[in-house]
Amino acid sequence: MPKITRRTFVGQSLAAAGAVTLVSGAARSIAANDKIGIAVVGAGGRGGSHIGAWLKDSRTEIMYVVDVDEAAGNKRCDAIAEEQANRPTFVTDMRRAFDDKSVNAISTATPNHWHALCGVWAMQAGKDAYIEKPICHEIAEGSALVAAAKKYKRVCQTGTQCRSNPAIQNAVKFMAEGGIGDVKFARGLCYKRRKSIGSLGDYPVPAGVDFNLWSGPAPYSQPRLTRERFHYDWHWQRLYGNGDSGNQGPHQTDISRWGLGIDTHPVSVISYGGRLGYQAERKDPTYVDAGDTANTQVSIYDYGDKCIVFETRGLEIKPSADEELNRLFGSTKGNKVGVVFYGSDGYLVQKTYTNCVAFDKDFNEIKTFEGGGNHFGNFLDVCESRNMDDLNADSRVGHLSAGLSHLGNISYYLGENNKVSREEAANTLAGIKSLDNNKESLDRTLQHLRDNDVDLATYPISMGPLLKFDPDKEVFPESPEATAMVTREYREGFVCPKAADV
Ligand SMILES: NC(=O)c1ccc[n+]([C@@H]2O[C@H](COP(=O)([O-])OP(=O)(O)OC[C@H]3O[C@@H](n4cnc5c(N)ncnc54)[C@H](O)[C@@H]3O)[C@@H](O)[C@H]2O)c1
Repeated sequence: MPKITRRTFVGQSLAAAGAVTLVSGAARSIAANDKIGIAVVGAGGRGGSHIGAWLKDSRTEIMYVVDVDEAAGNKRCDAIAEEQANRPTFVTDMRRAFDDKSVNAISTATPNHWHALCGVWAMQAGKDAYIEKPICHEIAEGSALVAAAKKYKRVCQTGTQCRSNPAIQNAVKFMAEGGIGDVKFARGLCYKRRKSIGSLGDYPVPAGVDFNLWSGPAPYSQPRLTRERFHYDWHWQRLYGNGDSGNQGPHQTDISRWGLGIDTHPVSVISYGGRLGYQAERKDPTYVDAGDTANTQVSIYDYGDKCIVFETRGLEIKPSADEELNRLFGSTKGNKVGVVFYGSDGYLVQKTYTNCVAFDKDFNEIKTFEGGGNHFGNFLDVCESRNMDDLNADSRVGHLSAGLSHLGNISYYLGENNKVSREEAANTLAGIKSLDNNKESLDRTLQHLRDNDVDLATYPISMGPLLKFDPDKEVFPESPEATAMVTREYREGFVCPKAADV
């Protein structure tokens, strides 16, 4: 396919933009030297990495920084001005940037509740979109992104950067070629210490923040917070974030799905766990942490002939946790974030984003896989070539992998008040189809809680319901209440359309 020049690319963008009506605004001059004009939406921690990647790539010019926090956005613009010829325009409302013809592509690193609507608006306006993981906060939003990318012929890359890393690509290929035999089961791990985010309370929104815009598709009543720290800690409040199953999780669920060769949603899910241990951590039995997502969670996904289990542990990882994992990860304690594939002839472990190791059945290393890639570069390559098959993590990849965290959370949230003893949990899990040893995983999880001084009689885990899921219709055929949680109630002006309406 001939390389598409920026001029052709802009023409295509405008054609797509013609299909929708968005807020109007004056068009700026195009980016210098035929470059791809970028708007970075959300200039916090990860937005800074986006900016760094665009500055490094000579094909781009950052035209806009969008942030609802004026100080954060302007600081980024000042820093960019040191490194590229023009200072980007700073705006607080993303629609102003999307309405500017000089913007060809957007990259977004807002909080999760904004990802899908931002992506849909951008693609409706004719922009290509790099969207951070999880690409949606709700399952239906993921479908809307897939539909928008198709309808407007836009490049939509999910921010699961491992997809562009040779270490993981080659490990997946090795398994597909039978390197560890038949592989039907993967365990994703997010054993990552997360301390309490402070007491549930009433806190002010920092000055200079447009909290109405920050809230966007989520409920908004008054400019107050129930958590102490404004940025980042929204991850642990379910209106905005998805807990660690939707924060770290989408990397490992994505690698799990990819390695198992699964290109659909599971047919059932069950999830258990809790937000536990902070009373012991604070040495205060009455302590109420401001987060309401699980910090300890096990979700079991059944795909018929294959299975994924995703485990989140936010408390300290003590040595007793799991002998097999200790051997595979080569350490008895500390964070363990990765994926273990269980094959008929051995194991394959994704240890870091740039390192995987294959083992035989006796835990002898048989092969290592190394190397990072350039996921942002892959996005730009496809923005130029328009050859969508070359995109490493399209919106469907992002949707299916984010969907795993959402499915697990739906089961967990529905069962939140169903507090269970070890025996009750074990009885429920005994009836659950899974390729894992459910009871052993349960016992390791409970041991981990006890290791962190959680009194399970006073603070028991919760057991979610087993939910059947229809992967094509994206509904729970036997649970209307779960189906209602496939989407959310939107505020006027911030409605993410359904897939059919994009
Ligand atoms: N791919 C990765 O490895 C990776 C790593 C870290 C974070 N992330 C993802 O990036 C996203 C951001 O994470 P973070 O740690 O930077 O969070 P953060 O809270 O530090 O930053 C979010 C920024 O977005 C801004 N914002 C909020 N609403 C906005 C809106 N409507 N328009 C414009 N800006 C808005 C906030 O003011 C803030 O500056 C998350 O979804 C996270 O999952 C991905």
